[in-house]
Amino acid sequence: MILFKKATDLHNYLDDQRKKHGSIGFVPTMGALHEGHLSLIKKAKEENSVTVCSIFVNPTQFNDPEDFKKYPVTIEKDIYMLESAACEVLYIPDVNEIYPEGVEKNKKYNLGILENILEGKYRPGHFQGVCMVVHRLLDMVRPGQLYLGQKDYQQCMVITKLIELMGKKDSIEIRTCPTQREADGLAMSSRNVRLNEEERKKAGLISKVLTQIKKEIFGGNIEAPKKNGIQLLQNDGFNVDYLEIADAETLEPLTNWDGRQKLVVLCAATIGKVRLIDNMLIN
Ligand code: PAJ
Repeated sequence: MILFKKATDLHNYLDDQRKKHGSIGFVPTMGALHEGHLSLIKKAKEENSVTVCSIFVNPTQFNDPEDFKKYPVTIEKDIYMLESAACEVLYIPDVNEIYPEGVEKNKKYNLGILENILEGKYRPGHFQGVCMVVHRLLDMVRPGQLYLGQKDYQQCMVITKLIELMGKKDSIEIRTCPTQREADGLAMSSRNVRLNEEERKKAGLISKVLTQIKKEIFGGNIEAPKKNGIQLLQNDGFNVDYLEIADAETLEPLTNWDGRQKLVVLCAATIGKVRLIDNMLIN
């Protein structure tokens, strides 16, 4: 694996690789890697001769400064994991490489309703920050295929929109990969290491509630399974930001279902001090 710190070096190297091998696969991350991230690397490697992973804890997407400060950093272990996964290229930029003009959020991406619903509502500015960093990274790497996890369902939709806004719909293909889970169903996440033993035991409930809703849902009014789910989580000490059933294509939250529309159920809830998100496609 070749490690780059400078955008220009990475850019030059990849120009050469693109000529030799064709399309490049790209997996952007914030590090503290786990099997979820590695599943994206694996998929990218299956489909491309050159896979690039980036590790950058992006300050502009953290609406909570405490969350940014506490974001786990395990760079040596990450490098080891990427080497073991035979990733070809790792990009670890400094903040100045990504934001030479500073971290002010001056660019406004028009994300439509995605900006203000679900994660957007509870993490104001978060998706603008995601767009800033991903825009910059895509300009540097110029991948043919971009690998994202379904775990961050709304983020996948936001990045799809970003690519459209960048006018790159025809040159960058998004490949969405399934959420990797622990044995009890908990979606793997870099933040899981911040759960204490008791919180960790409870954390599996989120995916159980989502699975339950998936089983229980019928056409017509869909408020009841949602309310039951919120109650179950609250009974176990979760602070629930949202548990919503939404149109899987637009992410518009729904109260009634025609029995045909594709649905996704999404949840964000905090246990102790750790905010967890998860989602499942229903049909
Ligand atoms: P990060 O949380 O590190 O996630 C990097 C990628 O791994 C994202 O596409 C995410 O959806 C995927 N991922 C995380 N957990 C997963 C799991 N359990 N199963 C499958 N995929 C999983 O998402 C970000 O970083 C950042 O917002 C980023 C896009 C890098 C921009 O800074």
